[in-house]
Amino acid sequence: MITLGVLVSGTGTNLQAIVDAIASHALDARIGVVVSNVPEAGALKRARDAGVKTVVVDHAQYSDRRAFDAAVVEALRAHGVDLVVLAGFMRLLTDVLLDAYPMRIVNVHPALLPAFPGLHAQKKAFDYGVRVSGCTVHLVDAGTDTGPIVAQTAVPVLEGDDEESLRLRILKEEHALLPRVLQWFAEGRVTVEPGPPGKRARVRIAGS
Ligand code: GRF
Repeated sequence: MITLGVLVSGTGTNLQAIVDAIASHALDARIGVVVSNVPEAGALKRARDAGVKTVVVDHAQYSDRRAFDAAVVEALRAHGVDLVVLAGFMRLLTDVLLDAYPMRIVNVHPALLPAFPGLHAQKKAFDYGVRVSGCTVHLVDAGTDTGPIVAQTAVPVLEGDDEESLRLRILKEEHALLPRVLQWFAEGRVTVEPGPPGKRARVRIAGS
């Protein structure tokens, strides 16, 4: 069984979706540890309520990003983590974390990448006036939301939407997509293949 390490900074509804998927046997995994860089993150309470180990690595206590990442890696390794999930984790990763878990870090992003990477993706999509947005689960590389895409769900923008209603419609799909993708990892179905020269690496999902 795979052991997940979930990195959080905020309310943790995606963490909750993972916890619930495990409880309902839709996801055959265990959460080894939840690591938060924010001591008061709501996600920590969700983890404790679920009986999951938590570690706070407060970024403010570290001199630079690499030292912070080294502390995160230590926590992940100490809890036997073999797949890292960024679930609303609001820190950019350095080579220290990326090299410790190469192509084993998954992020959920609230837009259809490569459109609207970075912060406030839902607002950017809404302000742009797109008719369709969505969410993306991708592997993490050194860029901001640039890693190989594993799966996406499209979400319509409806008449009468505002930024918040769109955010909530996308979030609901994040909660469905992320555990589904994690189950593919649990089943060992996800592989990353180098692309043709000069082209992006591609994710292959066996049996899909
Ligand atoms: C989600 O929209 C996620 O895509 C983004 O941050 C939000 C986190 O929400 N990266 P939560 O903490 O999982 O509720």
